[in-house]
Formats: sequence, structure tokens, C-alpha cells
Amino acid sequence: MPKRPAADDSATIARRIAELRETINHHRRLYHTLAEPEIADAEYDELIRELEDLERAHPAEAAADSPTQLIGGEISEAFAPVEHRVPMTSLDNAMDRTELDAWGERVLKGLGDVEVHYCCELKIDGLAVSLRYENGRLVQAATRGDGRIGEDVTANVATIAVVPKVLKSTKNVTVPEVLEVRGEVYLPIDAFERLKAAKEAENAERVAAGRKPEPVPVNPRNAGAGSLRQKDSTVTAGRGLAFWAYQVGEVVGGPEFASHHDTLAFLSALGFPVNPSIRVVASLAEVGDYCDEWQSKRHQIPYEIDGVVVKVDDLAQREALGFTARAPRWAIAFKFPPEERTTLLRDIQVSIGRTGRATPFAVLEPVFVGGSTVGMATLHNEDQVRLKDVRPGDTVVVRKAGDVIPEVVGPVLSLRPEGLAAWKFPTTCPCPIGSTLARNEGESDTRCVEPNCPHQRDQRIIYFASRGAMDIEGLGERTVFQLSDAGLVADPGDIYSLTIEQLLTLEGFGRLSAEKLLAAIEGSKSRPLPKILTALGVKHLGPSAAEALASAFGNLDGVMAASIDDLATVDGVGEVIAQSITSWFAVPDNREFVEKLRRAGVDFGNVEVSRLPQVLVGKAIVVTGTLDGFDRDGAEKAIKDRGGKSPGSVSKKTFAVVIGREPGASKVSKAEELGVPMIDEETFRRVLETGELD
Ligand code: IVH
Repeated sequence: MPKRPAADDSATIARRIAELRETINHHRRLYHTLAEPEIADAEYDELIRELEDLERAHPAEAAADSPTQLIGGEISEAFAPVEHRVPMTSLDNAMDRTELDAWGERVLKGLGDVEVHYCCELKIDGLAVSLRYENGRLVQAATRGDGRIGEDVTANVATIAVVPKVLKSTKNVTVPEVLEVRGEVYLPIDAFERLKAAKEAENAERVAAGRKPEPVPVNPRNAGAGSLRQKDSTVTAGRGLAFWAYQVGEVVGGPEFASHHDTLAFLSALGFPVNPSIRVVASLAEVGDYCDEWQSKRHQIPYEIDGVVVKVDDLAQREALGFTARAPRWAIAFKFPPEERTTLLRDIQVSIGRTGRATPFAVLEPVFVGGSTVGMATLHNEDQVRLKDVRPGDTVVVRKAGDVIPEVVGPVLSLRPEGLAAWKFPTTCPCPIGSTLARNEGESDTRCVEPNCPHQRDQRIIYFASRGAMDIEGLGERTVFQLSDAGLVADPGDIYSLTIEQLLTLEGFGRLSAEKLLAAIEGSKSRPLPKILTALGVKHLGPSAAEALASAFGNLDGVMAASIDDLATVDGVGEVIAQSITSWFAVPDNREFVEKLRRAGVDFGNVEVSRLPQVLVGKAIVVTGTLDGFDRDGAEKAIKDRGGKSPGSVSKKTFAVVIGREPGASKVSKAEELGVPMIDEETFRRVLETGELD
């Protein structure tokens, strides 16, 4: 897409305006009519913005049929047209707080600075529909279409469980003769995930059979739109669509409403789902708070929202404010920053992990999405790339929602350049020695088969120094690459022989930073045993198994000497980890690496290990008062050395309370109350031996 014109050259501007109108009309059709958008909403909004700005600055170029003046899309021929008796208008957008405040100012000015209440609602990311009830019966459901004429989707909407089909009067509400209810049909996130998983499973079968995968729905909105516009309503019925009501259209023979929230209360009383998060507030500052609150909570609800809709609550005030050509002046849509954008997939490259796993990742034209600029995203493995069918040169949808890592959702197929080749997993490693990449039968990962691959080695050093392992501050990815490129380190053991002179040869290192790094490396020699065990990088051996091994064996030599059975019987270790540990220590290079660490002076552990019979495993014994043969710590240690626990208070799970001289009154009374056995010192000694009370 050409850039904005820089100078105020009227021919260039007219050309740009024409080009924008054409582009926007193309995307309007894809979005509204075909429900198959090619660009993310955020990009569409940007185009509209640019056109609006240009039209405002150059009024001579304004046109009644400009997309800035239109609502929604054209009508597809697949569904019968329905004329809306009350038009379904769109809303103006506020992209940030300044724009929201400007809207607030306009409202206040328009009303002559009176008191205004605002109804704040979630902006549901779905499809607007109008439901028409005559004498309490659902007679028609229509999409918004171009705002004046929509499409008849009655049969499909009738399959949505939460949409009332028949309305009943109660002592509080009387059903109007005619009632049009407007609201949003949407696909809840779990229903979307189910649909996506089903499509992916179908695709996996297709690919396995040598056929091309079919497009997978990219987000709940598109999937919801597709579900609502099915020709066969039994397909719609199986999708799990839902609905929130937020507005009324034509009403005949109904009550006179004074406020929007009264209208919503009426709809709710008639049985329509009205969103519980709606809040009426008395100032624009509170509107801002509501927007902030929901921007941070947007992922805590089971459906997608893309902003907040703010409406003037008083209906007389609304009347006074009226409409522009496109939208009401009394409402505004505050849009959250986009979480989905489209961008160019420049390349797919492969990164090598410390165990040799080769992970493909997307190199993207950087794009601002979900609050940060994204230039890379993992593609997990070969099958994922094939299933998503993303190819270098594709325009792809990128999503970054909340704290979730950025994801390439899929390609925009209609924008794929002709003849674009599918990506093939490389067979050589990107490392300088170009080792071989191979995928074993039945495995999803492709691996670099050469343990001496420089990329693997770098990753092992990075892992060794990381926070969960030896925790060496200053030895991050950048420094490791520098050290490795300079040929100063080849395995993690080498870091202990680095000298200040060597570090000073590296770019960015001064005496102070070099000394700091050496001090951090020195400090790592006394890390506790679980950290060292983790740092070795043995497959499956994570921090909690490392803790368990450290307490069971006390030092690294003990773990090295242990048999598979010895290892596997440790609580929290098990067969798989035990097997992995013994195989790791069986490799001569690994043993040599361990010896290098020993020679460097790394402390291999001094966790004290009890060799006493573990008769008290699972038992808690509380000690109170003074004993003759034990001081307080000694008694606790005697219990713990036999596998027991010695908590500070009595509960119904306590095995026994040892009563010494001058015991604590509360412990005694608690033991009495709960019926916990109370024992003297002599019995305690027997319990330490046998684990039994008698
Ligand atoms: S009120 C005249 N309320 O957002 C007022 N719209 O950008 C008409 N939307 O077309 C709309 N949640 O599809 C309204 N709580 C809400 C909404 C909402 C989502 C959608 C609706 C509308 C679009 C405007």
C-alpha cells in the first residue's frame, strides 16, 4: 500500500483519497458481506482514519458514497434482504483517552453543560443482529447489513439457545406488540477453541493423506460470523453461539423508558441475556476508570471484547444530541489496543536448543500488536508449519493477547502471491559447522544430531548460567555469544577459567564490568546442590526432582554413584528421570564436564543425609515443654532424621504430642480436645525407634 502523501499536492491527495476508498470498499465487502477479512480490524480502522482526516482537511473531496459515510457492508445474495424499520447505525470510535475525553466534551457542550450519566458496556466482538418480536413471538432475525437493509438469518438465530423464542408477560413486565431487540451474536472462546481443534484435526488427516489443509478460523469473531451465515441451520446449531442484548429498535405498545438502563432492565425482565458488567456512572473520569478496568480484565471473561461502548443514559438527552450521517452523537466505542494485526512473513528460520531440538520461527515485518512490537514468533515444529500452511512471502495474521506469547495464527490466503513455494524444513543446522538435522520416525521434533554443534553448546552455557540454574548475573545470551565467537568458551565448565584480560578484549567490557562478571562466576561455585543438578542440563531433570535428589543423596558424587533403582525410589524422581540421569552420567564427555566443574572448585554439595530408618514418614510429632535427653532443636532433628515432621502447633492430623516439663497449656488443651495421643519422653524414644505408639 503506497505511503501517505507528504506534501499538500491536490492531485496526489485526490489520488490517495480515491485509492483509500477503493481499498476500504474492498475490505468492507470482505468483512461484512463475505465474513472473510484480509486485514485485522486495527488496520481497517487506520485506513478509515486516514480517509476521514483527508476528507476533513479537503472538504472539496467529500462524497456521499465515501466509505466514511456508510455503515456496514453490502448485502450478500445468500440471504433474503430485510429492511430495518429503525436503522442500525454504527458507532464512532475513540482510539485513546484523549479522543474519549473529546467526545465527552462534545456531549457536554451539545447539552449545555448539564449533568450527564453514562452507561458503560463491554464492546462484544461479534455480529450485530436485530431480533423482531410480534406479540411476543420471534418472527425475524436480521444482520445489520448496510444499516438500512440486512440479511434474514432467522432460522440460524432461532438455534441460539439463549435467544428467547417466545416472550411472556409477568406481573412486572408486559410484552409489547412489537419489540425489536438489538444485540451481539458471538462465539464464546471455548466454543471457538473446539471448532478450531476439530478443523485442525481434520487438517492433520488431510495432510497425512497428502491433501492440502483447509483454512482454520482465525478468531472467535470470524468463526462466529461464519457460523451465523451458514446455509444449513443445523450447522449453526452445533456451533454454540450466544447473544447479549444491548439496545432496542422499533417498539410498539411498550412502556415509556426514561433511561437506557431502564430499557436494559426491561429486556432482562423479559428473559434476554443482558451483560452483567454494565455500569452507569456520573462522570467521564469514571468512564475512563471503567475502560482501564476492562482493558486489564479483558481476558478474564469467556468471550472476546474489543473495547467499551459508552452511551448517554438519559433518553431525552440522547434525543437532543441526535445523529451524524453515520453514527449517534450520544455514544462512542472506546477501542482497546489491537491484539491482532496482519504483517509480512519475511522468512522462516530455525533455532537450535541446548538439547539439539530445531525449532522453526517466523521472521516478521515488525508489527505493533498486543502492546509491543513483534518481529519474531515461534512456529513450534515442522507439522505446525505444514498445518498452518504459512510460507515466506505470505501476509499472516499475528496475535498477541495479554501475557500470551505472540502467535502466527495463519496466512491470508487471498493475498498469497502466485506460485509462492511451501517452506521446507532445512536438513542442515544453521550453525557454522552445518551439522545434520534429522527427524526420527514417530517424533514431532527435528533435531541437530551433532552434540558438538556450536549453537547447542552456546545454549547449554546460557542455560547453565540462567536464573533457575547457576544464576550468574551478567552471563546472558549476548555475552555467551561474544565469548563463544571469540573462542573463549566451548562448554559451561570453561567459564571458570576466564580471565580479566580475556574479558577486556570483548566489545562493551570495561574493567568494572569484567570484574563484576568474574565475581558473579566465582559466586556461582557455592550454589546449593539442587541448582548444580539443574544446571547440568540432564533431560527431564527439573528443579523439583533436583531438590528431591539433593536431600536423598546429599552430594553430587552420591547421585553419580546411584543405580537406576536407587534414583527411581526417591519421592518425586521416578523411572524416566532415573534412566535419563544414569544415561547422562554414562557419557564420557559429560563425566569430563563434571570433573572440570570439580577442578574449578564448584561445591558439589554437603546436604546432610540421614542414614537412619525412615520410620516416621508422613507423621507429625509436636514437642512441648523441656525434655531431659534433647534440647528443642535436637528433638526436632531426631524426628526429621527419621522422615517425620515437627510442626509448631497441634492439629487433628498430629500423630502425637510429646509432653515435657512445663508444657504449653494451649498445646495440651488442643491435644485433649482433638483426642491426639500425649506421650512422655520415654515413649517418644520408643516412637523414634519403631515409628509406633506401642
Ligand atoms: S450499541 C446505536 N453496544 O459494535 C448503537 N454496540 O462499532 C448501536 N457492539 O455495530 C450499537 N458491543 O456490532 C452497542 N454493548 C454494545 C456493543 C456494540 C458490541 C458492536 C455492534 C456495533 C459495533 C459498533
